[in-house]
Amino acid sequence: MKYYIATDHAGIDFKSFIASLLESKGYEVVDLGPFTTDRVDYPDYAKKLCHDVLADEGSKGILICGTGIGMSLAANKVKGIRAALCHDAYTASMARAHNDANVLVMGARVLGLGTAESVLDAWLAGTFEGGRHADRIAKLES
Ligand code: RB5
Repeated sequence: MKYYIATDHAGIDFKSFIASLLESKGYEVVDLGPFTTDRVDYPDYAKKLCHDVLADEGSKGILICGTGIGMSLAANKVKGIRAALCHDAYTASMARAHNDANVLVMGARVLGLGTAESVLDAWLAGTFEGGRHADRIAKLES
């Protein structure tokens, strides 16, 4: 599976850490940047990533900012994107199982790297349960 990943200036090192983990697990990673700590605006990166994910069937995305809140707000404005801000393994697992989230959002100033790895692992292991959850997701788009 292919993962698009992006951040703002608050998550440069965090992004590299997550991208390396994904690559070590055999995922294809497309890093949309940024690549320096110069200040950027999170909506620009969220929108780019979300449109790339939607255009590339089967792919998913990971967005990072300081808290994860700005990226979540921006990503969920894009129709077809279900972005889940996750701070622990349980929410990451449920974001896949119940919400069929296609974008994982994390806060680089909130999560230690050990917790971030457990969030990522739970997300990657999660599978959508469908059924009543699919009906609810359909209502998000109506
Ligand atoms: C940048 O300072 C910070 O505001 C941003 O990374 C994010 O936390 C916004 O929600």
